[in-house]
Order: sequence, then structure tokens, then C-alpha cells
Amino acid sequence: MLPVKSIGLLMPPRYFLLIVLLCFCCSAIATDNNIKEQVETLLTKMTLPEKIGQMVQINAFGGKIPDELKQRLREGRIGSMLNEVNPQTSLEIQRIAVEQSRLGIPLIMARDVIHGFRTIFPVPLGQAATWDAELVKQCARLAAKEATSAGFHLTFAPMMDIARDPRWGRIAEGFGEDPYLASVMAAAMVHGFQGDDLSAPNTIAACAKHFVGYGAGEGGRDYDTANIPQGLLRDVYLPPFKSAVQAGVATIMTSFNEINGVPSSGNPFILRQILRQEWGFQGFVVSDWASMEEMIEHGFCSDLKDVAYKSITAGVDMEMQSSAYADHIEELVKKGIVPQKLVDDAVRRILRIKFQLGLFEKPSPYSAKQSTKPSEAALKLAKTVALKSVVLLKNEDGLLPLSKEVKSIAVIGPMSDDPYEVLGTWNRDGKIEDTVTPLTAIKNLLGDTTEINFAAGLPYSRSRDKDGFAKAVEQAKKSDVVLIFAGEEAILSGEGHCRAFLDLPGAQNELITEIAETKKPVVLVILAGRPLTIGEISEKVKAVLYAWHPGTMCGPALTDLIFGLQSPSGKLPVTFPKAVGQIPIYYAHKNTGRPPHTRKLMMIDEIPVRAYQSAPGDAARYLDIGYLPLFPFGYGLSYTKFEYSNLQLSSHRIELGENIKVSVDLTNTGQMEAEEIVQLYVRDLVASLTRPVKELKGFQRIRLKPKEKKTVTFNLPSTELGFHNSDMKYVVEPGKFHLWVGGDSQSGLKSEFEVVKSKGKDR
Ligand code: NOJ
Repeated sequence: MLPVKSIGLLMPPRYFLLIVLLCFCCSAIATDNNIKEQVETLLTKMTLPEKIGQMVQINAFGGKIPDELKQRLREGRIGSMLNEVNPQTSLEIQRIAVEQSRLGIPLIMARDVIHGFRTIFPVPLGQAATWDAELVKQCARLAAKEATSAGFHLTFAPMMDIARDPRWGRIAEGFGEDPYLASVMAAAMVHGFQGDDLSAPNTIAACAKHFVGYGAGEGGRDYDTANIPQGLLRDVYLPPFKSAVQAGVATIMTSFNEINGVPSSGNPFILRQILRQEWGFQGFVVSDWASMEEMIEHGFCSDLKDVAYKSITAGVDMEMQSSAYADHIEELVKKGIVPQKLVDDAVRRILRIKFQLGLFEKPSPYSAKQSTKPSEAALKLAKTVALKSVVLLKNEDGLLPLSKEVKSIAVIGPMSDDPYEVLGTWNRDGKIEDTVTPLTAIKNLLGDTTEINFAAGLPYSRSRDKDGFAKAVEQAKKSDVVLIFAGEEAILSGEGHCRAFLDLPGAQNELITEIAETKKPVVLVILAGRPLTIGEISEKVKAVLYAWHPGTMCGPALTDLIFGLQSPSGKLPVTFPKAVGQIPIYYAHKNTGRPPHTRKLMMIDEIPVRAYQSAPGDAARYLDIGYLPLFPFGYGLSYTKFEYSNLQLSSHRIELGENIKVSVDLTNTGQMEAEEIVQLYVRDLVASLTRPVKELKGFQRIRLKPKEKKTVTFNLPSTELGFHNSDMKYVVEPGKFHLWVGGDSQSGLKSEFEVVKSKGKDR
């Protein structure tokens, strides 16, 4: 046989490439077939209790291996474990399972690696604010490397729940309000965690969660009821999951909530019809923590046996933490109530992932030689992503960037030197000794040349203790400029941490007000897991940077931005309300029959006293706060200026199935090299079901030097212009569309086009 290289010499390069591609596909198919065979062979050897064992996921025992656990491992009654953080214990658990159980099936060791493992990156909402999928992928890649080095095979991430209510604490864990942005980010994270080869020692299986509608809980309360019409479910809440499935996500987690009366862990419509039949998902479904058992509390199941029946029937393959499967499936199968096939299918899916992970060859990726400390490369990445996640919301008189020549600077606020709170929710394995706080970073940058006057003012964000105010004011008074680092402690967002008021907690507003009264120029940096209602307080300061919870490299990233080494370039992945009363507020709302923007509206103080009952000309808005948000989706300023011009469409009339090429010229007309996120939105003007006033359909992050101009091009396939009609079919309806390209969801150059039926074809 000729060596491959010589074959290559005998044929044109494209044929050679084709053969390489074919070989690659064939070997992938061969591996897949191989795994199928291995799964089937193993399945035939398994007893029913051993099969059920694979469907059980339990929490770890804090580094201990009690006798009862050893016994269950030996009997093959556990398929997966979460939270065993001691790699040695994890190795020992695997050793018992592999060496002392009858069939030696290794466990999947799982952990919530949500935004980094040892190196903590910005919370996912902050990562979404980068609008930089490649960067988000790199973070997940790095997190996977660190997590596998501690013995983990599966992370319960990414979370991709669309969130349109910032009261919900878990908004921090997702990618914001928009299905398109969230879909891009979801795929990026999945690719980052899983790499190209799940069996590689430094890749980790991902888990798309929480399926589905968890972010739509009533009133922004965690775990609360979600009522989502099917069209909205399919157009808004499901797309990020579909994108994760298309990206090859290994597992899916059900959500705690019910949708339209059916809790997710007992919902065959979402788990069987949509996930498996419509999307062809091949991985396994795991319940959320005790979410199966909680179906009793929901009033959907009578007891744990009913839970087991409804969950397996619905399509949950693995049960996290509660014991319905362990306690009841055997009996249900023996009595013929649950078909054996349902168990076999669930186990097949779990074993398949175990084979794909390469667990049978190497049960633990952990090696004692691996270092867990963040590498230089990890810290560099953490700084870059934090830097790109920060959104500049206000910059009056161009106060920012500050000159490095500044003589004295006051550093104030409870978040200015706190190495823990800036790491955000779901920091489980990050260490505060790795964090570089803003104060430390400022000292590192300017310590030799500038007087740095520090006073936290408040010991933590919720504090109402004003004892530190006097010193903070004094520090401000003797400084040329003041930096205030305010926000929310990590624990105020995340699971179970919803808030009815979204002001800065504690006495922070009072602290900022007192500092502002010194008349010194103030830069306010907010570090929080969600949008806060900062409208009034922002008016008292000259500049506002919104930094989310930026993670380990918080300080260096912020310092680079504050002192102009880089320009801010993050854009909001979620609409900022002026007040809680405006929620839910999101850019892709419907127009209604009375859109507020078309008429002059009377505000509350303008209405005459004893006015005659009327509503002429009024609209979908509030009397006291109007309809506009504080900051729209996609918004973010820069230290430079970007100008959009020359919006061009390849055609203003396309047939169904055709694409439009959209181009726009972007010029950096300012003084500084910077990045802009160019956003493409459309509106379907008339449809059989009303469509949102704008929908994001594309974006690109573009870097330009001063005076540099670039033509930015988007390919907009007409297939992207559809929605689910009243028959729940995805359709692109012919008709007129508006299109905008710009720097946020409320501005941009506008054009229009028409989609017409393809000749000779029915709609
Ligand atoms: C409950 C949370 O809802 C879920 O996101 C998480 O992965 C599990 N607990 C495991 O920690």
C-alpha cells in the first residue's frame, strides 16, 4: 500500500482533502459503531439492579467513603457522583467501582464548573456581554482542563435559560434575554468544554440546562411556575438548547419548574417529542437536584413510585440526588408497569457517554502531577475576557479614561478590595488568593507615582453601617478623582437569590451620594450578577462602568480600562430597567396596537386633577416611567467613536430560500484603537402571528485603529427569518421586513427588503 503522503502527490489537492475528510468521517462512524457494539455487549451482561444503578447520581460525602457507599459501588448501584472535590477520594471511588464491582463500570464524576474551575472567569452573563463566542469557548476549554485535572468528567454547564427578569438571581448564570445571542454562546461553551474528542484527558462532557423555561418563572422568583405558550417556547426558550444539541452536547438537565402545568422532569412533550424525536438528541438527560422528587410537592405525582414512573416515561435517564429510580424502578419493571425497554434505552445513553468519555480505558483524568494553580495563560485569558465583558454606560465629559499621571486618587466602596465577592455566584473551586482586586491592581499600576487614598466606606454591599463614611469622604476630598467600586455580593445573585428591589443594596447609594457631594469627579464601577436599577445614582456620578462579577482578574482588567490601556467594548446582553415596575422589559417585545413611540404621551404630573375618565391616545407604557429602559439591549459606549455608513443589501427582494448579503461601513472616527460590536436586527412587519419589533440576527466584534474603516458583511439566510406559526410549524412567511445595523438595539442604519414566494412553489 502506498503511504498517504505518496497518494497525496498523485492527485489534485482537493481530491486529497476529500479523501482525508472521508477517512475522518469513516473513522468517526467506525468509532461510533464500535461504541454501539460495546454498549450492547455490556448491556446484555447487566442485571436489572445494575442497569438501574447506572441511572443513579448521588452527592459526594465530603471526601469520605462511608461503608454504605462502598457497598453500593461494589453492587454497581451508582452510575455517577457529583461534588467529590478530593481527587484522591475520587480516584479511590473509581477504583472500587472498577475493580470491585461485577462489571467494573466506572462512574461519571460531575461538578458545577459554571464560569471557571480554579481560574474564575466573569459570570456567564458577563461572558455574554463580550459578544465574543471564540473567547467564551476558550474560557470553557480552560475550565475543562482545570476541572479534568481534579478528576471531573462532566460539568453542569452551560446554563442557557433565557432571562427577561433581573429579579431572578440566576440571570447571572445565563447569557441574557436574547435567543440568538444565547444560542451562539451556548454552542461556544459546549465546543469549549467538549473539544473535538470527549475521550481526550482534558475535555469534559457539558450539560445544557435547565430544560426548559426555568428563566420564565413568575415574578422572577426561582423555581416558580412558568406559563409559556408553545410558540414562545419554540421561538425564544428552546433555541439555545437546540443550538447546544447541534453542537453535540453530551447531556441535558431538566429544570425545577413546571411549564403550563407539567414539571420538566415529568414532561414527555419536551423530553421525548422535542428533544429526542424532533432534534434527535443522543446524549442522556439528568434531572436537577431532587427535581424528580419535587414533583410530589408540585402536585403532579402522588408518591416516589409515581415519580419514578412519570420520570422514566417522560425521558429522564439519570436521577440526581433523590431516590425514586433506586427505590422503585425494579418493582415497576417487574410488574410490567414500566417497560424494560425504557430502562435499557436510558442505560444505553448513559453508557454511550461513558464510552465516549473513554472512562473504560481511563476512569479518572486526574494525575497527581497536575498543578491546580492558575497558569499564566489562564490568568491572561481571565483578564482578557473580564476586560471585554465590561460595559461603559456613561462617560460625561470624557472623564474616562483617567490619565496615569493623576496625582491622587481615592478608591472607595465595598467591592474595591474584596477578593471573594468579585468572583460571583457558583464560585466553588476558585481561591481568593488568586484574585487580584481593583485596589491591588491600581496600586500595582500607579503605586509609585500616585497617591492612592483607600477607604471601603462599607464593609460589604448589604451593610448599613455608616461608620466608615467619614473616612471615605475624607479620602475623596483629598483626591483629584474618585473611583467607587460598588455592587452586589456574590451571594445576592445565583440560585435561590432573587430580589424584589434592584437598587444597590445596603447603604451604598447613600455612600455614593455623600462622595458625589464632595464635587470630585466620580467614576462608579458596578460589580453585580444582574442588571441593577442604577438610573438615579448614575446621575450623581460622571462615569459608570458595569463590570458584572468579573472573576479572578477583576482588578487588572478594570485598571486597564480605567486608565485607558484598552477601551471598554462590552455590550449589554440584557435590557436594564429604570425601575423594577418596568419588568419584564426586553427589546424584542411586540408592537401592540398602541405603541408608545408613535404619540406624545402625558406623564403623571401633566394629567389635570379630576381629569375626566379617558384614555385617548394612550399606549403600552407607564404613566410614571414611560416605556424606555434605562439602557437598551446591545448598548455600550467606547472611548472612541464609531460611525456607521453605507448600509447595502445585495437585494431588496429575495425568494424564500435565498440569502441576503448585508454590508455596512464602520469607521473609527475617534482617537483610540477599539472594538465595536456590530449588530444586525430585523423585523417581520406583517405575519400570521405578530412578530417582535426587533430580533437580533447577527453580530460581529470588529477592531479598528483610529480613522480606520472596514466594510462589515453579514450573510442573512431567509431561513433565519421564520417563526412557529399557529400549527407550530417553523415558517418563513413572505412579506416585508425592516433591517437595522448598528451598535445597539435602539439605533442603527435602517433598510428594508421583501421576501417573496419562490417561483412555482407553495408557501
Ligand atoms: C441545582 C441547580 O439548579 C443546578 O443548576 C446544579 O447543576 C445542581 N444543583 C447541582 O449542583
